[in-house]
Amino acid sequence: MSDELDGVREHYRATGLTERLKTALAALGPEDRRLAPEQLGTLDQFHTRGLAATAELATLAAITADMSVLDIGSGVGGPARFLAATHGCQVTGVDLSEPFVDAARYLTRRTGQSGQVTFETGSALALPFDEGRFDVALLQHVAMNIADRARLYGEIRRVLRPGGRFATFDVVLTGGEPHYPVPWARTPATSFLLTAAATRAAIEPAGFRALAWQDDTETAKAWFQQLRASGPPSSPNLGVVMGPDFAQLAANLGRNLLEGRLGILTAVFEAV
Ligand SMILES: C[S@@+](CC[C@H](N)C(=O)[O-])C[C@H]1O[C@@H](n2cnc3c(N)ncnc32)[C@H](O)[C@@H]1O
Repeated sequence: MSDELDGVREHYRATGLTERLKTALAALGPEDRRLAPEQLGTLDQFHTRGLAATAELATLAAITADMSVLDIGSGVGGPARFLAATHGCQVTGVDLSEPFVDAARYLTRRTGQSGQVTFETGSALALPFDEGRFDVALLQHVAMNIADRARLYGEIRRVLRPGGRFATFDVVLTGGEPHYPVPWARTPATSFLLTAAATRAAIEPAGFRALAWQDDTETAKAWFQQLRASGPPSSPNLGVVMGPDFAQLAANLGRNLLEGRLGILTAVFEAV
């Protein structure tokens, strides 16, 4: 297992990320000027359909201001900041990548949300939290990096209170081998995709009951087609986080969706 995690860490190693972000964000104003979370939306939502997907998932999970939310595989913290700003909840992010956690804390200071949104370095397979601690757990575009799904979903169930909700937004296998590199893996060695049915079969035995189950592949395909038609993305974008080949990684995900190799699943479960 640690070889896999090392490979995933290597993929998201992002050397010098916080310094790169400081440079890229200079265009938005001086270091001491507070940024609105949505100003970062082009570079801090590391998943298909960006901010729109986070907003829809949060609505589907019925997040309210009195809730304590855990974002697992929180990346550079965009979804966590959005949830706190829009729904008024407390959010904790946890991520395997130390440079990402460092960048997430920096960006959260820039948006003035450090009192409401915090981040920790840690693995989804050994969450550093007590059982029953959270009302909602979010997992957006992370499960593809994790081979041991029984342990992943078991850990998520452990940290949720009974009746709490687990909201997931994942890339799933639909047919054939994907073209690599993709945004979560440059080679198949760190990619552990399952079909939607196999994902559900791994989640439910961990102690969950499905509340919502959506195939969002067509919406994602339309989004990628629009992206292709609109030419190079404006700056700053996820290239700052993942490096200059990010456009190619994202284009391959779009191609895999359009060729019917991959699909997009949105689902919400209740902890039973
Ligand atoms: C594609 S990014 C998605 C980031 C974030 N969820 C978002 O949507 O903006 C995948 C993230 O999952 C994290 N990750 C992968 N495997 C992990 C694990 N075993 N434990 C914790 N985080 C993990 C990576 O470090 C990376 O930040």
